[in-house]
Amino acid sequence: MDENILVTGGCGFIGSHTVIELLNAGYGVIVIDNLSNSSEKALERIEHITGKSVKFYKKDLLDEKAVDDIFAKEDISSVIHFAGLKAVGESCKIPLVYFNNNITGTLNLLKIMEKYNVKSLVFSSSATVYGKPESVPIREDFPLSVSNPYGRTKLIIEDMLRDIYSSDNSWDIALLRYFNPIGAHKSGEIGESPNGIPNNLLPYVAKVAAGELEAVNVFGNDYDTPDGTGVRDYIHVVDLAEGHIKALEKLSSHPGLVTYNLGTGKGYSVLEIIKNFEKACGKKIPYNITERRPGDIDMCYADPKKAKEELGWEAKRDIDQMCEDAWRWQSKNPKGLINNF
Ligand code: WQD
Repeated sequence: MDENILVTGGCGFIGSHTVIELLNAGYGVIVIDNLSNSSEKALERIEHITGKSVKFYKKDLLDEKAVDDIFAKEDISSVIHFAGLKAVGESCKIPLVYFNNNITGTLNLLKIMEKYNVKSLVFSSSATVYGKPESVPIREDFPLSVSNPYGRTKLIIEDMLRDIYSSDNSWDIALLRYFNPIGAHKSGEIGESPNGIPNNLLPYVAKVAAGELEAVNVFGNDYDTPDGTGVRDYIHVVDLAEGHIKALEKLSSHPGLVTYNLGTGKGYSVLEIIKNFEKACGKKIPYNITERRPGDIDMCYADPKKAKEELGWEAKRDIDQMCEDAWRWQSKNPKGLINNF
């Protein structure tokens, strides 16, 4: 394969796992990352795992000149665009930062892609764009609605991409709507290492298991679910990464603009996640039932049929492997990558 893929946000959780699969598939990889919520150490670990090197630019998508220079210098076939701020709660506190970073950054990228006639893009979207679904499982043709600035940036970018494709159908664009990515590469060398106290359930549970945090706060047990706690579609991050390779292959057949849910089609509750993680780490994980978190919904899981039929992709790793791999990463890197001195 002599194609070079530009991966924005390639030092991040999903980006770094996707870079490994790209290298394994024989692609050349160029990473641009501003390291605002990631570490360049991820690239060292990737090179150790794959034995292959990655070109890295520590640049921000808001720096148009820097991005232009990269396209002028490098021979880029396609772009996988992960870079963006992604904490729902934080986005409610600083919406302008989210709109500028996620939307202006993407606008800069798209303008420069067009200038250099690079019109093949995989975009990191999110199940958040479905808002509170009428029913589950969720299909790609479900109504879209968002209830927080983070989700709004994802929906606005999707709408921009649909408009761009309508104006110029020489673009090939894959919108990938992730459900809840968890787990880590089986080596335990890379994984999810959020700054500070984790917003998401899995990294929080892992830190409680490691003794870094006291107990899990279960945000409400009065939801309309089997055990009253929130149900989500957790998907192994390596399954997700493999879905990006399949999406890239799909784009090479010039499908135009395509949209896929990347989920397992199975939901697990908060209490079920805690129980599965206890099995993986061999420890009791204390938890308290607390108030609901504003904006949370009862149930969210995918109908993964379309990706299976059109991409030839489906999630293969089960909840045991997700928890075992997450625990191996947490145990080997208690301080994550960012704070790992
Ligand atoms: C999962 C479940 C919580 C933390 C978010 C984003 C989404 C995507 C994935 C980027 C819910 C419960 C959580 C805790 C808890 N990110 N919970 N205690 O909210 O489904 O999705 O992350 O694309 O866009 O919205 O994930 O892991 O925060 O919550 O009880 O300390 O765990 O109520 O039911 P969520 P989550």
